Amino acid sequence: MIICIGAGPGDIGYLPQRSAQLLREADVVAGFNAVVDVVRPLIPDSAEVIQMGYRDQVAQLDIVAERHRAGKKCVVVFMGDIHFSGFQYLERVERACGHPVETIPGISSAQILASRGKVCFDETSFITFHRRGDLTPFKRHLVHVLQDGRNAIVIPCPWDEARSFMPWHIAAYLLENGIPAGQPVEVWENLTRNEAEWRGTLAECAEQRFSDMSIMLIRTLAPMDSQIEPTHK
Ligand SMILES: C[S@@+](CC[C@H](N)C(=O)[O-])C[C@H]1O[C@@H](n2cnc3c(N)ncnc32)[C@H](O)[C@@H]1O
Repeated sequence: MIICIGAGPGDIGYLPQRSAQLLREADVVAGFNAVVDVVRPLIPDSAEVIQMGYRDQVAQLDIVAERHRAGKKCVVVFMGDIHFSGFQYLERVERACGHPVETIPGISSAQILASRGKVCFDETSFITFHRRGDLTPFKRHLVHVLQDGRNAIVIPCPWDEARSFMPWHIAAYLLENGIPAGQPVEVWENLTRNEAEWRGTLAECAEQRFSDMSIMLIRTLAPMDSQIEPTHK
């Protein structure tokens, strides 16, 4: 048995009960170091913990797949929700196993941000740059989303110098592509843990620096009017 779960945004209080139960009953728990640390209090002493980083993830997931084939109950833990910026890792799990695996969603950092910033999903697009491969279509999509008057919740890319696309790079890119300098931006760091919040304009964001654990909300300049019936007084 193998199942992938979302660990939530960092505070274990946001872990679904079903996922907590699976962890308590697991023979093997696997995931990136920081993510395994989030769920550590629920891992039984008897369970084998297989931790990994970017460099050894393929080799470590091969070991997890081996345990799964040997009949162990394996739980692979993802940061936040699997379905936002987690699919490349899911693809690696499935490649190691040789078949599709079941998933249980978790609470994403994007959901916590939506809640803190009071924006609804209906009027917001979600874009991640924290992924391998060509970022160009995602960059273009972000410009279109903002031109279309929607909010954007954006996960930046904190990797090496060459690839890094952090909030200040994103702001500079958007300014170069004609998005207004006054567009309101929020950057939240370490949501549900040691939260920090920054608010300013796109132009100001280009001058700020943030940690790797940050997520951006770029608000539309023209929020939709209410579409419910007028109040009767
Ligand atoms: C590979 S993505 C995974 C996102 C995750 N699947 C989710 O739903 O939140 C990792 C990035 O998400 C963002 N992130 C995840 N948790 C966060 C948190 N608690 N506060 C702020 N940003 C967070 C950071 O930009 C981090 O580098």
